[in-house]
Amino acid sequence: MIISPCAPSSKLPGIGTNIFSVIGNLSAQYGALNLSQGAPNFPCDSRLVDCAVKAMRNGHNQYAPMIGLAALRHAIAKKTAQLYAMDYDPDEEITVVASATEGLCAAISALVHSGDEVIFIEPAFDSYAPTILLQGATPISVGLTAPDFRVDWQAVKAAISARTRMIIVNTPHNPTATVFTAQDLDQLAAITRGTSIIILSDEVYEHVVFDGARHHGMATHPELASRSVIISSFGKQYHVTGWRVGYCLAPAALTHEIRLVHQYMAFAADTPMQHAFAEQMEDAQSYRGLSAFYQQKRDLLASGLANSRFELLPSGGSFFMLARFRGFSAESDSDFVVRLIRDFKVATIPLSAFYHQGTDHGVIRLSFAKDEETLIEGARRLSTV
Ligand SMILES: Cc1ncc(COP(=O)(O)O)c(C=O)c1O
Repeated sequence: MIISPCAPSSKLPGIGTNIFSVIGNLSAQYGALNLSQGAPNFPCDSRLVDCAVKAMRNGHNQYAPMIGLAALRHAIAKKTAQLYAMDYDPDEEITVVASATEGLCAAISALVHSGDEVIFIEPAFDSYAPTILLQGATPISVGLTAPDFRVDWQAVKAAISARTRMIIVNTPHNPTATVFTAQDLDQLAAITRGTSIIILSDEVYEHVVFDGARHHGMATHPELASRSVIISSFGKQYHVTGWRVGYCLAPAALTHEIRLVHQYMAFAADTPMQHAFAEQMEDAQSYRGLSAFYQQKRDLLASGLANSRFELLPSGGSFFMLARFRGFSAESDSDFVVRLIRDFKVATIPLSAFYHQGTDHGVIRLSFAKDEETLIEGARRLSTV
């Protein structure tokens, strides 16, 4: 152990180790089945690995262009035009980043100034608030309505002030699995009209929308697209969360600023993986088939839990499903999750972990990005609770 003479004053006081590491360590200790993380436990398409290996063997092992491989940016442009009828210029408006996490961080760092306010909707993915704080800006949280976890746009409107620089939204939503409707987009457009507020839209689950619904992302709405930065993730799209590649769509003026930061944050995303994704995207079924693939997993988990004591909340998209236990236990959701790990050997995440003040609805989040065996066994164990 090295004793350091430096005592840094934390830039993120009050922020602890993230919940996934905490639950991960605890579940390893108890040998629990993992329904907690959104990381798939099944393999990706072996052709994707072959493409990446081929790229490495062909010598594509040095820096990629800072803005991303041209072939990949063109593939993203083609997909976005086909799915959402919106044309993004691959040279000026599409940037490949080293994961959605880096894209979110680059966008917030580039566009939010010290003293600004950024509205985000809680419960929320855990990177937003710390990244806002690192800019010397103030995160302003607006809660989703309970028990249906929809955005209350009047509450968002009421939170807007002269200092509001950005609103962060996320659809399909982690952790609540709700998805935006066309009305949500219209309301967001109405409350930002006439302002210079930037929308940062986290759409990493854009291809995982259930029951025949379509993804209502910012690119589907021209007015919103003109003020939006859209972030997506190849890790989620191709079951390879350890390959850190994502992308960012934004009008040229916003993209210019984001690239200024991205060039010093990561410089470029992994080269062989970009080659592999570009090749895989030639098959549109590789993303168009994702909703059906995950819907089957959602339904398998739900049917396994049908006779359990949990009340399952509707999952409209993403890798997640919420389950309410308040009907049979008054424990805090964190205590309940620890008990599930210890006594039933199943790891889940307490919903309170996604609120800065730990709001507890007596609800846990289950991930169904798992193989069938895990889902069946996980549901069996939870049904004995
Ligand atoms: C809503 C949301 N945004 C962003 C990310 C991060 O994606 P990536 O793994 O590409 O950094 C995740 C990962 O779980 C997520 O759920």
